Amino acid sequence: MIELSYLAAAVLFIVGLKRLGHPKTARSGNGLAALGMLWAVVVTLIDLGTVSWGIVIVGVVIGAVVGAVLARRVQMTSMPELVAAFNGFGGSASAFVALAETLRADPSTLSVETGITTVFSVVVGSLTLSGSFIAYGKLQGLIAGRPIGFAGTNAINLLVALTTLGVGVWATLAGTMLPYWILAGLGLALGVLAVLPIGGADMPVVISLLNSASGLAASSAGFVIGNSALIIGGALVGAAGLILSVLMSDAMNRSLANVLFSKFGGGDASGPSGDAASVKRATVEDVAIALGYADNVVVVPGYGMAVAQAQHALRDVAQSLEARGVSVTYAIHPVAGRMPGHMNVLLAEADVPYEQLLDLEESNPRFSQTDVVIVVGANDVVNPSARNDAGSPIYGMPILDVDNARTVVVIKRSLSPGFAGIDNPLFYQDNTMMLFADAKVALEGLVRAVANV
Ligand code: TAP
Repeated sequence: MIELSYLAAAVLFIVGLKRLGHPKTARSGNGLAALGMLWAVVVTLIDLGTVSWGIVIVGVVIGAVVGAVLARRVQMTSMPELVAAFNGFGGSASAFVALAETLRADPSTLSVETGITTVFSVVVGSLTLSGSFIAYGKLQGLIAGRPIGFAGTNAINLLVALTTLGVGVWATLAGTMLPYWILAGLGLALGVLAVLPIGGADMPVVISLLNSASGLAASSAGFVIGNSALIIGGALVGAAGLILSVLMSDAMNRSLANVLFSKFGGGDASGPSGDAASVKRATVEDVAIALGYADNVVVVPGYGMAVAQAQHALRDVAQSLEARGVSVTYAIHPVAGRMPGHMNVLLAEADVPYEQLLDLEESNPRFSQTDVVIVVGANDVVNPSARNDAGSPIYGMPILDVDNARTVVVIKRSLSPGFAGIDNPLFYQDNTMMLFADAKVALEGLVRAVANV
C-alpha cells in the first residue's frame, strides 16, 4: 500500500510537471504537484509509525508560514532570488537527511552503495546551499555582479573537486563519520568557488542548474533512506532543471560550459556610445498618432515592463487600439526579463489573450510587414548588434528583428544599456522613435492620447 501510494504521488508530480508547460494549465499543475508532495509526506509519516507528531506539526507550521510570507511579499522581478533560496534550503535538507541517516545507522555498518549515495547527497546538497546563496547575493547586489576570481580559478576548483573525490572514496571505505563532515565543508567551498567567477547576468541559468543539483541530491538521499517518492521527485527536478538550463543557454546562443566557465559579463555597464543627438525623441501624442493610424502593431515587452509593472496599462493600450480596428500581437523573446516565461506570466496576469503571444520564430518573419513595433522596456533582446557586430558580446544571440518594421517606438527612461551592459544601435535608427519615460506612466498616457486621435 505504501509503495502504491508513492506511485500515486509520482503520477501527480509528473502530471503536474506536464501541466506547467502551458500558462492556461500551469496553476493547476502547480497545485497537483504540491498535492502529490503533501500526499508523499503524509504516507511517509504513517509508514514510520512512531513519529513525534508535535515536532512534525511545529516544523510544518514554521515552514508554511515562512514560505507563504516569502511567496506573498516577493516582487515578480525578484522571483529568481526566491527560487535560489528554495534551492539552497532543498539542497541542505538532502545533505542533512543523508548525514542524519549515517549517524543513526553507524557509518561502519553502511554498504559501499549506501556510502556512495550518501557522499553524493552530502557534497551536492552542501554545494547547492552555498552556491545558491552566492547567486542570491549577486542578484540582490549584496555581492559584486562581475565575475570574481583570478587566472587560476578553474585550476583551483579542479583541485578542490579532486580532493572531494578522494575524501569521498575515504568516506565509503573508512566507516567513520569524520570524512562525511569534511565532505560537507568541501561541498560548501565548491559551491562558493564555482559560482563566484560567474557573472551576475548568468545567475538565472546558474539557479536553474542548482535547482537540478538540488533534485539530484534529493534523489540520492532517497536511495540512502530507501524512499521511492524522494528518488522519483528528485530525479524529475534534476532532469527538468538541466533541460531548462540548456534551453536558456541555447536562447543566448551559448553553451552551458561557456556560461559556467567563461566569466562572461563585466557587470559594469558601458554608457551609450552612439550619438545621442541623432536620436528621435517622441512625445506620447506622436506615438499615439503612429499607433492609432497603423493597421498592425507588434508589442515587444522586456525587463523594464516588469520593473514598471506596466502590463495592465499595456493591455489597456492594446484594447483601445483593437477597438479602433488595429491588429495587436505580442512578440516574446525566450530570455526577455529575468526568468523563463517572465513576460508570459505578467501578460497572463493582465488577461492578455494567450493566442496573441508569438514566439521568436513566429514573430521574426512578420516584422517586415509590421506598421509599428512598440518596444516596452526591452533592450538586449532587440539589439541588432547580435546579428551585425561580430565583436559584440551578444553576437550570435537570436534576437527579435524589430528594426525591420516600418516604425519602431522604444519606451524606456534613458539611453542606458540593458543587462548585457552594451549600447543598442536600434535607438539611433531613422525609423526609431524614443519615448523616454517610465513604461507605466508612458502607457497610461498613451491610453488617453489614443482616445483623442
Ligand atoms: P534588458 O536588456 O535588461 O533591458 C531592460 C531595459 O529596461 C533597460 O535598458 C532599462 O532602460 C529599461 N527599464 C528599466 N526600468 C524601466 C522602467 N521603469 N520603465 C521603462 N523602462 C525601464 O531587458 P531585456 O531586453 O528583457 O533582456 C533581458 C536580458 O536579461 C538579456 O540580456 C538576457 O540574456 C538576460 N537574461 C535573461 C534571462 C531570462 S531567463 N529571462 C536569463 C539570463 C539572462 P532605462 O534604464 O533607460 O529605462
